[in-house]
Amino acid sequence: MKFFIDTANLEEIRRAKDYGMVDGVTTNPTLLAREGGDWRKQAQAICKEVEGPVSLEVIGKTADEMIHEAHELVKYGPNVVIKIPMLMEGMKAVRQLRELGIDTNVTVVFSPSQALLAAKAGASYVSPFIGRLDGLSQDGMTLVDQIVRIYDNYGFDTEVLVASVRHPMHIVEAALIGADVATIPFKVVMELAKHPMTDKGIEAFDRDWEKAFGKA
Ligand code: E4P
Repeated sequence: MKFFIDTANLEEIRRAKDYGMVDGVTTNPTLLAREGGDWRKQAQAICKEVEGPVSLEVIGKTADEMIHEAHELVKYGPNVVIKIPMLMEGMKAVRQLRELGIDTNVTVVFSPSQALLAAKAGASYVSPFIGRLDGLSQDGMTLVDQIVRIYDNYGFDTEVLVASVRHPMHIVEAALIGADVATIPFKVVMELAKHPMTDKGIEAFDRDWEKAFGKA
């Protein structure tokens, strides 16, 4: 399972990279806005910092606007993936960008029918927003399961990128289902390592060592 980091913050990307946990990055307009400053420079710096794919989202709502923005964004680095909102105009843009050899990530996906359209249009990735579904008392993971099954049924090559992750169990469940990628907030990456029994176990080993041999 690939780990993308869901952030536009360079410090978080660098820290996650040090742990070897960055196969790629996803940004969105909210995350770039949160960083402030010149978003173009920020996006370019992220593309430089990361070897893997970096999703940068278009703002336009027509296929022509999206394609125009995509042509600008791909100049930021060879690893740019164009994030396209789940709209029928977006599907038009995805199809044309695929013909040009430009990778796309269809985002803000909340239903299996939307994911089916994204795959048929030729998206490289599809991003189901599971945390936001959970927040509406709908099971986000059921959506991931349905998408994985649909793609397997027909051999679509679109990768399932689990997004809107809130906690470690989202990652575990997505991995059990066999999702290709999870895009994870830095905080949740750190939470994946935590277990109170691990802390207790290490403390006990240190105590016993110190008793027998003195401070390490
Ligand atoms: C995905 O690419 C999005 O950036 C992200 O996962 C959205 O998640 P949110 O619900 O935390 O905003």
